[in-house]
Amino acid sequence: MKVLGIESSCDETSVAIINEDKLTANLISSQDFHQNYGGVVPELSSRAHLQIVNPLVKDALKKSNLSLNDIDLISATAGPGLIGALLVGLTYAKGLSLALEKPFIGVNHIEGHIFSGFLMPEKPEFPYLCLVVSGGHTLLLLVESFTKIYKLGSTVDDAAGEAFDKVSKLLGLGYPGGPQIQEAASNGDENKINFPVSDLKQKYNFSFSGVKTAVLRNVQSQGGIEKLSEEDKNNIAASFQFATIKALTRNLIRALENYEVKSISVVGGVAANSHLKSEVTKLANQYGKFIVIPDIEFCGDNAAMIAFRGKSLYENGVRHKLSYKPFPSLSTNHFLEMTK
Ligand code: KG4
Ligand code: ZN
Repeated sequence: MKVLGIESSCDETSVAIINEDKLTANLISSQDFHQNYGGVVPELSSRAHLQIVNPLVKDALKKSNLSLNDIDLISATAGPGLIGALLVGLTYAKGLSLALEKPFIGVNHIEGHIFSGFLMPEKPEFPYLCLVVSGGHTLLLLVESFTKIYKLGSTVDDAAGEAFDKVSKLLGLGYPGGPQIQEAASNGDENKINFPVSDLKQKYNFSFSGVKTAVLRNVQSQGGIEKLSEEDKNNIAASFQFATIKALTRNLIRALENYEVKSISVVGGVAANSHLKSEVTKLANQYGKFIVIPDIEFCGDNAAMIAFRGKSLYENGVRHKLSYKPFPSLSTNHFLEMTK
C-alpha cells in the first residue's frame, strides 16, 4: 500500500509517502518568516501552505519514483491546529481523493505524534507510556494499541513547548524558543535558581504557567532584561529547563510505578530537547523499559507521522467521508478515561 500524508496544522507544510513499510519521502517546509512577528501569524501561515503544498507533493512523488495514480490512500491532518492552515492541507487531500477515486482519512495531529515512534527502526512495544510534549499540548498517555489510547494526565494551562517559547521571548532569545533555551542552558548553571513547578492534586496533570511567571518575577527583580548579563540569562534558561523537565519526569515516574508497560515513548517538538532525552533514557534504564524517542525529523511537525497514522487507521477499518471537517482543538474526551 502506498500512502500520501499531508501536514499543515501550524507553521510547517509537510508531504510524505510511505510505500509498504518504507518511508520514501518526508519533505518539510518551515515558515521561518513568523520569527519576524514573534509568533505564528495564522493568515500568513495559510497563504504559505497554499503556495507550497502542490510543489511538495510533486517533489515527494518524484523522490519516491511514483506517480499520483500509484497512491492508494490519502491522509491529511484534520486538527487540532489553526483552522485556515488545516483547511489548506485537508481540502487539497480531499480534492486528490475525489479526482483519483482513492480513500481519504483525516488524521488527528496528536495521534500522529503519539505513533511517531513507529517511524524509527526500533518501534515502541504495546502497552507503552507516551509523553506528548509539543508547542500546543502536554499529555501523559497509556497506549495499549493503535485504537486504545488512555489519558492519564494533561496540562491545565500552558503546554511545555509554549513555556519554552514564552521564557525564550522573555529573555530576548527569539522564537520558537525551545532550541534557543537549550543552547543557553548548556552554558548555564541549572542549580542557580530554584524555580518551582506546581504539583497538582491529579498527580498526572501538569501546570507550567507558574514557572513562567517565576521567571518573569526573577527578571523583574534583577531590574529587567537590559540588566541581565549573558551569564544571568544562561543560568535562568538552565534553571527553567531543569524545573520544567523535572515536572515532566516526576509524572512519568508516577505512571511507571502504577502501570505495567513494555516501553516509553517521548514525542512532539520538545522531545528534541537533549536534557529531556537523557533524563527519560536514565529513567527507562532504571525501570528496565524500552525507550523510543523519534529522530528530530519526526519530533517536530512532519507528514511522515500523518501518513503512518492514516495507514494504521485504514488497516483498522477506518474510512472517512469527504464531508469530514477540520477541528481547531482537541476535545477533552477524545482519549479514553483511565479508571484504574
Ligand atoms: O510538535 P511541534 O513541532 O509543534 C506542535 O505541534 O506544537 O512542537 C513545537 C514546540 C515549540 O514550542 C518548540 O519551542 C519546541 O517544540 N521545541 C523544543 C526544542 N525544539 C523544539 N523545546 C525544547 N527543546 C528543544 N530542543
Ligand atoms: Zn505537533
